[in-house]
Order: sequence, then structure tokens, then C-alpha cells
Amino acid sequence: MHIFNKKADLTSYLKDNGLIKSTIGFVPTMGALHAGHLSLLKKSVESNTTTVISIFVNPTQFNNAEDLEKYPRTLENDVEKVKTVSDKILVYAPSVDDIYEGNTKSNHYNFDGLEHQMEGKFRPGHFDGVGTVVKRLFEIVQPTHAYFGEKDFQQLQIVKKLVEKEKLPVIVIGCPIFRESNGLAMSSRNERLSEKEKTEAALIYKTITGAKARFGTKSAKSVSDFVSKTFQNHPVFELEYFEIAEEATLLPCIRKNKNKKYRAFIAVFVNKIRLIDTISLN
Ligand code: PAJ
Repeated sequence: MHIFNKKADLTSYLKDNGLIKSTIGFVPTMGALHAGHLSLLKKSVESNTTTVISIFVNPTQFNNAEDLEKYPRTLENDVEKVKTVSDKILVYAPSVDDIYEGNTKSNHYNFDGLEHQMEGKFRPGHFDGVGTVVKRLFEIVQPTHAYFGEKDFQQLQIVKKLVEKEKLPVIVIGCPIFRESNGLAMSSRNERLSEKEKTEAALIYKTITGAKARFGTKSAKSVSDFVSKTFQNHPVFELEYFEIAEEATLLPCIRKNKNKKYRAFIAVFVNKIRLIDTISLN
């Protein structure tokens, strides 16, 4: 198992072993790995000669200092989980300096409006941070294929836009959401939930599947009202947003168009922990 902390060591290894001439699959993560992350790794291992995973809690994409500080960091455990997929996977776990070289700042991006909706609206600067780190990681790893989860559907669309606009030579592949048996979308932030909160958080998926069932016959507004009511005055949850948006543009659905694909997006606080989820509606 190879673990690299420095980009120079990773790039020399790839070069010296002739791996840059073959397919390189890349799975960028912030660690605290779970089965969702491992599903991306499996997909990459199946389809590429080499697979690289990065484990890096990227400071520039956090707009909340407490969230950054409390983000779980479990490198040793993560490496053990990576090994269960394949001990040939290369792990890149850099320091902040290795990535940012003393200038821990985001570049500013225009993602054609994708960045102004939902996560972009409620987490100012978040997607500039994601764009900056993903571009930097792509430059270091030079993958032919990169795997991202639909769990962060807006991020997936933004990364595709980044690749298109910056003409980066990588194919971006979206992968389905992995869930706990009660429907809760797997997330590194779930580690901060108590067992009781994890059980209660099943309400999030239950509500968006309820929204999907209603979307067939009801207006977007009526579906949104149903979701708002579900969380209104709830003792445990605080709804930050629920949005029905078109998949391609992420613009809110005002009037349904049967030729367009829609998705529901939700962000909910369980005490101070912020969870997001999404579901395709049609
Ligand atoms: P992180 O939250 O660690 O997620 C890494 C990748 O795993 C993302 O592509 C995410 O969508 C995917 N993922 C997370 N939970 C999943 C689930 N339940 N099922 C399937 N895939 C899931 O997303 C980030 O890190 C960062 O923003 C990053 C892209 C690494 C940039 O810092």
C-alpha cells in the first residue's frame, strides 16, 4: 500500500512506474471514509490500470470555522478501508501547504450560474474552494477518469462545468448515492450524530421520497409546502432549504416542463450538524 504526503513523491511514483501512460482513475475525498466513498473506489479500480484516492480536508471550501475544525480526520482507519477495496490503490494525503504552497486561498470561478443556487447560496465561497482544490488535484494526479458521487449533485455538475470551461483532459463520472438501511445518505458528517439522531435522520430520506411521490401529480410549490410542513416546529430538525430544480441548470422549477429532468435538493440541520440529500424526481 503506497501512501504519499507530498505531491512530488506521488508524481515521481506515477512517472517512474510508467503509470501516466495508462488510465488513472481518481477519487477525491475529505476522508472519514464510508461505503459511499468505497463504491467510487470500486468503480475506479474496475475500469482503470491505476487508482488514486486523495484524502484532504480542504479548508477553502468551509465557510464555517467550527465545521472545519470538527470535520472528522481518521487517516489510519481510512487507509484500512481503502485496503479492503485493493491494496494497489495509491493514497495521496497531503498537508494544506503541499496543496496551497503557503497561499490558502480560492480562485474565483464563473460556473454559469450553477454556483448561485442551493449550496452556493447558503455556503458563500464554497464552490470557489471546491473548484480550486479539484483543479489543483487534477493537475497533480493527472487522472484520465474522476469519480464523484451524486450525493453532492450540485458539486458533480460544478466539476463537470469546471472541466468543460478549463478544458481539463479528464472524464467525470457520476456515481449513485449509498444509503444506510434506514435511507439516511451516507456522509462523513454522520459520524458526528448520536445513534438516536441517526435513527431520527431517516426522516430526511422519507420526506424526499414523499416529495417524489407527490411530484407526479402536484405542483412544485405544493410539494415544497409539504416538505416545509414536515419540518416546521420539529424538535430535532431545522430545514435550511428544500428546492426542486432542473438537473442541467439547477434553476428552480417554477412550472413543470415534461421534457425536463428535475431533482429535489434538501439541507437540514440535526442540532448543529448539517446534512444534505437529493433525489431524482422524474
Ligand atoms: P467528500 O464529502 O469526502 O466526498 C468525496 C466523494 O464521495 C464526493 O464525490 C461525494 O459526492 C462522494 N460521496 C459522499 N457520500 C456519498 C454517498 N453516500 N454515496 C455516494 N457517494 C458519496 O465531496 C468532497 O469530499 C469534497 O468536496 C471534494 C470533492 C473531495 C473536494 O474537496
